[in-house]
Amino acid sequence: MAEYERVEHDVLVIGAGGAGLRAAIEAAAAGARVGLVCKSLLGKAHTVMAEGGAAAAMGNVDDRDNWRVHFADTMRGGQYMNNWRMAELHAKEAPDRIHELEAWGALFDRTPDGRILQRNFGGHRYPRLAHVGDRTGLEMIRTLQDHAIHLAIDVHMEVTVVQLLKDGDRVAGALAYDREKGRFRLFSSGAVVLATGGIGRAFSVTSNSWEYTGDGHALAYSTGAELVDMEFVQFHPTGMVWPPSVKGILVTEGVRGEGGVLRNSLGKRFMFDDIPDNYRPQTADTEEEGWRYVTGDKAARRPPELLTRDHVARCIQREVREGRGSPHGGVFLDIAWIKERIPNAADHIRKKLPSMYHQFMQLANIDITTTPMEVGPTTHYIMGGIRVDGDSQMSTVPGLFAAGECAAGLHGANRLGGNSLSDLLVFGRRAGEYAARFAAERGVAQPPVSEADAAVARALEPFERSGSPEAPYAIQHELQRMMQDLVGIVRQEDEMKRALDGVRQLRRRAGQVGVTGNREYNPGWHTALDLDNLLTISEAIALAAIERRESRGGHFRDDHPDKDPQYAKFNIVIRRGADGSMQLERRPIPSLPAELAAIVEEQKS
Ligand code: FUM
Repeated sequence: MAEYERVEHDVLVIGAGGAGLRAAIEAAAAGARVGLVCKSLLGKAHTVMAEGGAAAAMGNVDDRDNWRVHFADTMRGGQYMNNWRMAELHAKEAPDRIHELEAWGALFDRTPDGRILQRNFGGHRYPRLAHVGDRTGLEMIRTLQDHAIHLAIDVHMEVTVVQLLKDGDRVAGALAYDREKGRFRLFSSGAVVLATGGIGRAFSVTSNSWEYTGDGHALAYSTGAELVDMEFVQFHPTGMVWPPSVKGILVTEGVRGEGGVLRNSLGKRFMFDDIPDNYRPQTADTEEEGWRYVTGDKAARRPPELLTRDHVARCIQREVREGRGSPHGGVFLDIAWIKERIPNAADHIRKKLPSMYHQFMQLANIDITTTPMEVGPTTHYIMGGIRVDGDSQMSTVPGLFAAGECAAGLHGANRLGGNSLSDLLVFGRRAGEYAARFAAERGVAQPPVSEADAAVARALEPFERSGSPEAPYAIQHELQRMMQDLVGIVRQEDEMKRALDGVRQLRRRAGQVGVTGNREYNPGWHTALDLDNLLTISEAIALAAIERRESRGGHFRDDHPDKDPQYAKFNIVIRRGADGSMQLERRPIPSLPAELAAIVEEQKS
């Protein structure tokens, strides 16, 4: 029998970003004994990369805003591929979650009359993002963390889950190892909540840090849960492009929300050249009108820099490809220009965008109050993920819940900026509540020891390979390059087929990966164990992207550049077949109930 420490919780939450923390808080408040597993240190989460704010229709800056407009904006942004129930719950519940966070100590920026200030963001009709300068995600994590530690939650830091374990049909716990000593830990639980975030590390240019290797997606898939919408990956239009060591780091959309404009090497605001028909009625057609919008003129329309992220990212890529890019392969994002319009602009920029000011000053030696930034698209988010029930967040495996980025549905084909922070509050809370209820009703399950032993043996295999084994970093690097080049912002059938073939070849090679040294803080071993997840989600992304022969939201195909109404009728669902191969199915999208369909129609103008 393998050696491991045994730990028991009613609810095991895997992932300690905003969704995991919020789920843990709710489950603990319901009386459950909660374990919270963090791959790195508590507080280090991609949530902090949602800098510009949390979307919630509070109407503090524009009283025309309400949940109905937010719902319609989210559905339109998602190209109607969304799980409508999640979009409805999210729009209705987000304001309460923000107020709750404030009651727990989050210090939001204020309007002159003392309410929570809200800013403009792409695809949102009205200023809707509650924010803390450009550090909103950080403030959210700080607040949730402070709240959680008073609730007697057991925190397992620097612990990575390698396999979920089942007792019959239901999930029963997980097998994990700690990074410090490489010791194994066997968790038994009544319910599991996955809140592991995204998959950015499958690509070479990303805003995600090393932890984001699609663990929750892959763990759920291997346990029999369904994945959906995996073709929809979001490339945030503005990441740093220079210097090379920081390429991909996020430059918040808040810069554009505060009046930042995109220019090419000719000094032209190229976003005016390509405004999609369905956004034309709401988009400014002069620079003057765009600026009036930024300054709060309710009669003015949004500047085209605030179109949805998929569109802005493609326009940037076009400028670069056609030779009008910046010296390091991006375009220029200019906030310094507002000095032509407002007094004390430099102070204003430093106050509104303090992190961006420091980030560029320290990493690129650029003062953004005087000099344009160089930016380009960066892999930021995946809309696809674990298929869950809209109300409870339970996956198709009993007792297995998911929330935040690793769960799919809310955002459809494309997420609006700021909807992720409110997503993780709304659905983190729901997942925690329903997981605690499930655990109370069904009790703690017992993972089969034989499966845990087999998982330990598999995890240790890389130490046993002698001869000339494959190096884990080489495989990871090849995968990232391939996904970036062949399944990136602009896709084509033949390239994606090459990628799919390449992923399958890399999987064979990953089976020969070897590592040296011992189990204590061995990053080569950790990378070897992450590979399986990266390969699973890369295969799912490529497979789904090949199947969707049209362009929609985050998925753009050069060989099928238009939307095809046939493809609006189904989501692509992926599940593991009995023979272990990846199976794909077109699943019809349930129609909108009449009252929600009426809201969508009424908001189209
Ligand atoms: O640009 C940003 O601040 C990112 C926000 C988000 O992804 O929601």
